[in-house]
Amino acid sequence: MDKIFIDGGKQLAGSVDISGAKNAVLPIMASALIANGKSVISRVPKLRDTYTMIRLMEIIGAKCSFKDDILTVDGTSVNNPEAPYDLVKTMRASFYVLGPLIARFGYVKVSLPGGCAWGPRPVDLHLKALEKLGAKITLKSGYIIAKADKLIGKTIDLDFPSVGATGNILMAAVTAEGTTIINNAAREPEIDQVCKYLISMGANIKGSGSSKIIIHGVEKLHSANVEIIPDRIEAGTFLAAGAILGKITLNKLNPKHLVSVINNLQEIGCEIETTQDSITISPADIIKPFDLKAEVYPGFPTDLQAQWMAIMILAKGSSKVTDMVYYDRFSHIPELNRFGANIRLNKNTAYIDGVKILKGAPVMSTDIRASASLIIAGLAAEGVTEVSRIYHIDRGYEKIENKFKLLGAEIWRENKL
Ligand code: UD1
Repeated sequence: MDKIFIDGGKQLAGSVDISGAKNAVLPIMASALIANGKSVISRVPKLRDTYTMIRLMEIIGAKCSFKDDILTVDGTSVNNPEAPYDLVKTMRASFYVLGPLIARFGYVKVSLPGGCAWGPRPVDLHLKALEKLGAKITLKSGYIIAKADKLIGKTIDLDFPSVGATGNILMAAVTAEGTTIINNAAREPEIDQVCKYLISMGANIKGSGSSKIIIHGVEKLHSANVEIIPDRIEAGTFLAAGAILGKITLNKLNPKHLVSVINNLQEIGCEIETTQDSITISPADIIKPFDLKAEVYPGFPTDLQAQWMAIMILAKGSSKVTDMVYYDRFSHIPELNRFGANIRLNKNTAYIDGVKILKGAPVMSTDIRASASLIIAGLAAEGVTEVSRIYHIDRGYEKIENKFKLLGAEIWRENKL
C-alpha cells in the first residue's frame, strides 16, 4: 500500500496550477446521463473519485473515454438505472445518479451510501424531495428504489441547504412537468456550475447561485460541452500550506470562490495578492489566534476545516474551530496531536492551544480533507512524517505530492506494506 513520506521543516516557494473541481465534475458527469449524445467535459481532475464515477457510469450503460483532462460521456446507450453497493459505498457522490436516472427512466435503484468516516450522512432530504415530486420510494436490501410514471414540479423547502440534495433535485426536476422551486438551495459554486451546465443542455433554470432556484420543466435535454471550474478546496489546501510555509502563487483558480478563506487568512496575518485567476500568499510572521466557524457557502467551507486547523496549531495563543455543517468531522484531531499539537474536542468545537514546533510522526489518513491537514502539518514539522492510508487523499487530490514537490517540499510516495 502506498504511503506518503515528508521530510518537513523546509520553506515552500514558487507556483502551482489548480485542477478542476472534484465536487463539480461528479454531478456534471451525472447530469450527462440525462441526455442522448456525446458530452465533452474538459479540465477533469484525475482523481480516484473521477475513475469511480466513470466505472459507475459505464455500469449504467454510458460510454466514457478519458484522455489527458478531457472526458467524453455518451449517454445514448444508458440502459441500466442501477448503482451497486460496492461502488456507492466507496463514494457517496455516486448518489448523484438518483436524480438523472429517475428523470430519464422513471425508475432507479441506488444503494444507500451508508456512514462516513465523520459519522452518519443521511440522504433523507434527497428522498423527501423526490417523493414531493411524485416518486414512490422503497428501501429493499439496502437499496433505494424510486419509481415515478411522471415527476411533477412542486415547491421544495430544504431543511438544510444540502449540496447533494440540491444537485439531485435539479437533475430530477429539469424534465418534470411544470415548475419546481427549491427554497434554501445550496449556493456552492459547484452547484451553480451544475445549473449552468443543465441550462446549456436545454434546461430552463432561474436563480442559479442563489438560495431560491426555479426550474421550469422542459421535455428533453441534449448533450453539451463544459469546462470544469477550478477546485476551490484544492486551492484552499495550498493556501493553508502557504500560510505557514512560504510565499507561493496558485494559478488557474477563481479568487471570488475563496473570499471567506482569503479574509480569514488576512485576519491571522497572511498577506494575500490576487489577480483574476491567481492568488499569492505570503506567510504570517506570527500566526494570530482566530475563532473559525465552518459553514455553508459563502461561509468558510467545512472541506477546509481540517487544513485550517493545521495552521492554527502553530498560532500564538488559543483558537477555536467549530464545524456547523458536519458536527462529527474531527478525525484529524488525534492525528494532528501526534505531531505535538494541543487540540481538545468538545461537541463540534475544537479548542486549540498553539505550539511553537511540530515533530514528524507516523500518522494515518481518515478522510480526504483530514489527510490534507496531515500533509500540511508534516511539511511544517521537524523530521520525517509517514502518512498511511493515502487512498483517501487520492480520492480528492491529483498527485498532491508532485504539486508540493514543485514548491520545493521534500515529499515522496513509496509502496510499503
Ligand atoms: C458535499 C460535498 C462535500 C462537502 C459537503 C458540505 C460533494 C461531492 N461533496 O457533500 O465535499 O463536505 O457538500 O459542503 O459535493 N444532510 C442531511 N440529509 C440529507 C443530506 C444532507 O441531514 O439528505 C446533512 C448532512 O449530514 C450534513 C449537511 O446536511 O450535516 C450537509 O450535507 P450536504 O451538503 O448534503 O453534503 P454532501 O452533498 O454529501
